[in-house]
Amino acid sequence: MAQYDVVIIGGGPGGYNAAIRAGQLGLKVAIIEGRGVLGGTCLNVGCMPSKALLHASELYAAAAGPEFKALGIEVQPKLNLKQMMAQKQESVTALTKGVEFLMKKNKVDYIKGWGRIEGPGKVVVKADDGAETVLEAKNIVIATGSEPTPLPGVAIDNGRIVDSTGALALPEVPKSLIVIGAGVIGLELGSVWRRLGAEVTVVEYLDRICPGTDTEVANAFQKVLAKQGMSFKLGAKVTGAKASAKGVALTVEPVAGGAAETLNADYVLVAIGRRPYTRGLGLETVGIEPDKRGVIANDHFKTSAPGVWVIGDVTSGPMLAHKAEDEGVACIELIAGKAGHVNYGIIPGVIYTSPEVATVGKTEEELKAAGVAYKVGKFPFAANSRAKINHETDGFVKVLADATTDRILGVHMLGPNVGDMIAEYCVAMEFAGASEDVARTCHPHPTRSEALRQAAMGVEGWTMQA
Ligand code: FAD
Ligand code: NAI
Repeated sequence: MAQYDVVIIGGGPGGYNAAIRAGQLGLKVAIIEGRGVLGGTCLNVGCMPSKALLHASELYAAAAGPEFKALGIEVQPKLNLKQMMAQKQESVTALTKGVEFLMKKNKVDYIKGWGRIEGPGKVVVKADDGAETVLEAKNIVIATGSEPTPLPGVAIDNGRIVDSTGALALPEVPKSLIVIGAGVIGLELGSVWRRLGAEVTVVEYLDRICPGTDTEVANAFQKVLAKQGMSFKLGAKVTGAKASAKGVALTVEPVAGGAAETLNADYVLVAIGRRPYTRGLGLETVGIEPDKRGVIANDHFKTSAPGVWVIGDVTSGPMLAHKAEDEGVACIELIAGKAGHVNYGIIPGVIYTSPEVATVGKTEEELKAAGVAYKVGKFPFAANSRAKINHETDGFVKVLADATTDRILGVHMLGPNVGDMIAEYCVAMEFAGASEDVARTCHPHPTRSEALRQAAMGVEGWTMQA
């Protein structure tokens, strides 16, 4: 029986980063992955393929729409969907191979198959051909991730009614697409197909999009998406769906009561959230009971079972790749006797549409609810010279700082490239920075990052360029 310091179940960003850190720290480590390729949801059917399609479709829409023409570039682009999908897959394959290389580099044993816990310190891996390998582990790290939450009455067949995985690989551009759920997946993948020519209607249960996001940003974001041609049906619940060979008939009712209506579309994307994945994991053999939503609880990544740890989407917190990665690193550092730590107050969230949405820290609503006295600094991209030159003027930067200490409490942005630029504020917040620290830091001109500085200046009322 092979013996390990750490056996990690699940090869996503939680699992593979944990494995790398374990290798770096000299632990004997194995990673088990059932899907036949490393990288998890993120690399295979999540972050990376969605960003590949967002990038390609953004360029296509710019070339096909008035944007290129206004710049003096006249072209007649022709969509080659097969090639767009092929380049996505090529990049994904290269990335997953890269992770496999990193396993070798860090002396991690990569074991293909589905893992299950069989009592304390024992993991059994079943390969595709049915062969079983037994591993003995001082520590087991559960990193099994998540799967799409199903919607009763709307059976996902990945034909006409698809989840995110299906929506990343539609065989054609739909004439019409209905997206159920105005969250991150719905708006990113809805944007992809809208840009390629589909009529997109988003049906959302709540009376707003992107719940949890700063309301001012979410409202402005909705307006921008509407301007791009996306339609919204808010406060609406889907009560049933009938799929045929040609399309889907969806029954929708107002949440507040009223007459039901039938919406017809070529395809329907169900994107109402994700749920932890623990099927067949043998949790009962070590006495772990997930909660009603399937979440495995943790205390500094420790589960209720000695020697069993948990990280990523399968445990509490935002379902984000960088959160899973940070937990993987901290969990292994704790196993190795170091001081692993994740600062949950500073986990950024980005929606990779155009313009992007990027947020970190507290929203204005959260500060109000907590009774915290705060000041606001705001700056529109319409007043930022680089954004103006590039004709990317939608959106703004909003900085929330403590009214007494000036400590930055939250930053919320809608605008070009804000997903990359939010990292500046993450660093400032990690150092307990004040808005003045950012306001007095020299930023390169002409860049969109100057908008972040001007917003910080606004906290003390000395924004100069608007
Ligand atoms: P996962 O990535 O889900 O990996 C878990 C792995 O464990 C899977 O490969 C699974 O096959 C394997 N597994 C499960 N059970 C077993 C078992 N018993 N034995 C062996 N293997 C097992 N997040 C971002 O931060 N940015 C984004 O831009 C982003 N975009 C996304 C787009 C889409 C369409 C989707 C669906 C998600 C996106 N996410 C994004 C979320 C991100 O993918 C997840 O938060 C992240 O992958 C979680 O990492 P994880 O390691 O916890 O789990
Ligand atoms: P989500 O939680 O972001 O959004 C789901 C939306 O569906 C919410 O607005 C919710 O109110 C709505 N909803 C729930 N039930 C509904 C119903 N019955 N009818 C209509 N609307 C309903 O979940 P989503 O978009 O599925 O994404 C899942 C996870 O994947 C997220 O937690 C996110 O963190 C992660 N992800 C992250 C990305 C990123 O970081 N850019 C990209 C894509 C996914």
